Amino acid sequence: MSSPENLDLALKEFTFEENKGTLHSLTVFIPEVLDPQYGMYVWPCAVVLAQYVWTQRGEIKHKTILELGAGVSLPGAVAAKCGATVILSDSAELPRCLDNCRRTCEANSLREVGVVGLTWGQVSPELIALPPLHVILGSDVFYEPDDFEGVLVTVTFLLRRSPGVQFWTTYQERSADWSIEALLHKWRLSCRLVPLDSFGAQSSQIGRSTLPGSHVVQMMVITAQEPEQEAPL
Ligand SMILES: C[S@@+](CC[C@H](N)C(=O)[O-])C[C@H]1O[C@@H](n2cnc3c(N)ncnc32)[C@H](O)[C@@H]1O
Repeated sequence: MSSPENLDLALKEFTFEENKGTLHSLTVFIPEVLDPQYGMYVWPCAVVLAQYVWTQRGEIKHKTILELGAGVSLPGAVAAKCGATVILSDSAELPRCLDNCRRTCEANSLREVGVVGLTWGQVSPELIALPPLHVILGSDVFYEPDDFEGVLVTVTFLLRRSPGVQFWTTYQERSADWSIEALLHKWRLSCRLVPLDSFGAQSSQIGRSTLPGSHVVQMMVITAQEPEQEAPL
């Protein structure tokens, strides 16, 4: 596959099925950039989150969904193909990453999907202009500890603006020393772990891809804590 920038691209195919061999399946094509200078690939977390989105397809139809740090955007593309209204985002400072989002839309004929630059931790005009959301997606956005709080600042802003919105996120365990627990407490967020075997993601192969392999990935649903009730006098 070639592009206007003459990038070396490879088109990867992911197929999500209800049960192997049934007619209920969905295929998404993801163009990956092979240039090591700024390679953009599907990460193991992305197939796990995409599998979760696929299993929630009945819930997300006609809902508005934002993907943060989308990169090549597999979970967002699955959501859009399941009938959600999707906005993909990546850092406003990394226009080439936003190009990845656009290439995935083109490869899957997703003409209605918006692409916007959102840098974690920044309350920008683009963030403020987002429509009310139902779900926020974030696959492998907790990969650099210096960015953990920025991600949660953006998520908290959006959760507080749209009551009931949920942040669906997958996290790859890279170091036992890394944790978002203190930050969840600081930003008054609740977190529920979703067991991988509850949505068919316990396998080393998902979406007909061997990508999860032996990586340890966790699926979490993060929501805003209820404001504390004032004690009666
Ligand atoms: C580990 S990659 C994951 C990409 C994709 N979500 C996946 O799982 O395949 C992290 C993504 O976060 C984006 N990113 C990094 N720093 C960011 C920031 N400060 N604000 C927004 N996005 C950022 C990167 O451009 C990249 O697309």
